[in-house]
Amino acid sequence: MKKIDEAEIERLGLEFEKKTPQEIIRFALDKYGNRVSFASSFGAEDVAIIDMITKIKPGVRVFTLETGYLFPETHDVIKRIKEKYNIKLETYAPSTTVEEFERQYGKLYETDPDKCCAIRKIEPLNRAIADNLDAWITGIRRDQSPTRANTKKVEVDKKFNLVKFNPIADWISEKVWNYIRKNNVPYNVLHNKNYPSIGCAPCTKPVKSGEDPRAGRWAGKEKTECGLHTSK
Ligand code: ADX
Ligand code: SF4
Repeated sequence: MKKIDEAEIERLGLEFEKKTPQEIIRFALDKYGNRVSFASSFGAEDVAIIDMITKIKPGVRVFTLETGYLFPETHDVIKRIKEKYNIKLETYAPSTTVEEFERQYGKLYETDPDKCCAIRKIEPLNRAIADNLDAWITGIRRDQSPTRANTKKVEVDKKFNLVKFNPIADWISEKVWNYIRKNNVPYNVLHNKNYPSIGCAPCTKPVKSGEDPRAGRWAGKEKTECGLHTSK
C-alpha cells in the first residue's frame, strides 16, 4: 500500500491556504500527473473546477460515480460539459442495475440509505481509486456543512488512503456562481429550480428560501453525508 508523507501534506495545507484554486490544481497535476483524478458530480462547484482544470491542462482524468439514480438534468449537463470541454470521463457504476438492485433490496434509499450509498457510491469509488490513483481533487467547500468546516485545501484522506485536494474549500457559493457566469460554464438547470446541492434523485429535494443549501439532501432523514467525505 502506498505511503503518504503526512507531515509534508500538513505543511502544504498551511502553505496552500493563501493559494488560488488554479495554483493548487496545477500543483496537484504536476506532482501526481495521471495518478490524480477529479471527482465530479457535475454540481456548480464541479463544473467550475472542470473549466479551471481543462484551461490548465487538457486531458486530465475526471471520474463520476453513476449510481443509476441521477436526475435526467444531471445526464444533460454531463453531455453539455463533455461536448464543451472534450473531457474523457471515467464512469464508475455499481455492479447491479437499479432494476436488479430494487428486486433484491426494494427501495433501500428509504429503508437503509447508508447501505444504499455504500453499495451504489462507495464501492464504485473504491474501484475508481484502485485504478491507479494516489490523489483526488474534489469540489467540497467549508461552508457547505459543519462537517466540512475544517476542510483543508490539501489533506490526507485516511479513509481512502489518498491525498485529497479541495481547491475551492474557502469559496462561498456566490464566488462559484460568479465564476460560472464569467466563464460561461454549462451548469445543471436544477440549480435554477431551488436545488443548490444535487445528488441522487430519490434523495434530493428542492430547498425553501432561507434553508441550508444541503437541506434538500436526504431531507427528513438524519443522514447528511453519503460517506465520500466522512472519516467513517
Ligand atoms: S456528497 O458526498 O454529499 O454527495 P456533494 O454532492 O456535496 O457530496 O459533492 C461534494 C464533492 O464530492 C463534489 O464536489 C465531488 O468532488 C464529489 N462527488 C459527489 N458526488 C459525486 C459523484 N457522484 N461522482 C463523483 N464525485 C462526486
Ligand atoms: Fe442511494 Fe440515495 Fe445514496 Fe443515491 S444518495 S446511493 S439513492 S441512498
